[in-house]
Amino acid sequence: MLKIVSARDYDDMSRKAANIISAQVILKPDTVLGLATGSTPIGAYRQLIDWYKKGDVDFSQVRTYNLDEYRGLGHDDPQSYHYFMRDNFFDHINIDLNNTHVPDGANPDAEAACAEYDKMVADAGYPDLQLLGIGNNGHIGFNEPDDHFSKGTHCVDLTESTIKANSRLFEREEDVPRQAYTMGVQTIMYARMILVVANGAAKAQAVHDMCFGPVTPQCPASILQLHPNVVLVADKEALSLCE
Ligand code: GLP
Repeated sequence: MLKIVSARDYDDMSRKAANIISAQVILKPDTVLGLATGSTPIGAYRQLIDWYKKGDVDFSQVRTYNLDEYRGLGHDDPQSYHYFMRDNFFDHINIDLNNTHVPDGANPDAEAACAEYDKMVADAGYPDLQLLGIGNNGHIGFNEPDDHFSKGTHCVDLTESTIKANSRLFEREEDVPRQAYTMGVQTIMYARMILVVANGAAKAQAVHDMCFGPVTPQCPASILQLHPNVVLVADKEALSLCE
């Protein structure tokens, strides 16, 4: 079920992931894409921008739904995932920004923001293809290790390990928001295909546990073992514990 594609390095991982995404968009121009932030997918976004500029892929009919957003950050805050997506992808391709969606971290009413987002993703029929990174602790979106799997979009308290890992992108660790709105694990599982990207030794344990560990909410990514159509594209270091 879970197909593992081994990549030589970060660039190779990025091109292979971009190939899979562009094939999806070519085959179904009005594809619904679930998108992810983090450092890992940036190379795939860059490659897709390059192919768009060469005329090989057209995003004019694509709709996108991002996994998560920090609670309390405005859409133009450079640390927000709204900003990240425009900066790293949307502003460089021919996507209609009205067709791009990210949970509304600027809405302090967590219940309303999450319910509204769930409805939007459901009305879109859920992603044809969901791109996922993986946290060092096996989190997907911002679904942190827990004693149960989450369902729909909800507000989460970030773990210390995630705050620390993500603080590299902020000036000071205190600046990292403590909460986020994230699509739930159940929503992620509704995607018809899931593409996970991972690189570097820091991800090796999480990648191993995702593919070969017990299915447990202590490693949220392990639920992907139960999905019928998952592809993991990972470099050698991230796969080093899987041999
Ligand atoms: C964040 C995001 C996740 C992402 C993870 C790993 O916490 N919410 O969606 O997968 O970080 O990020 P990176 O790719 O930078 O290692």
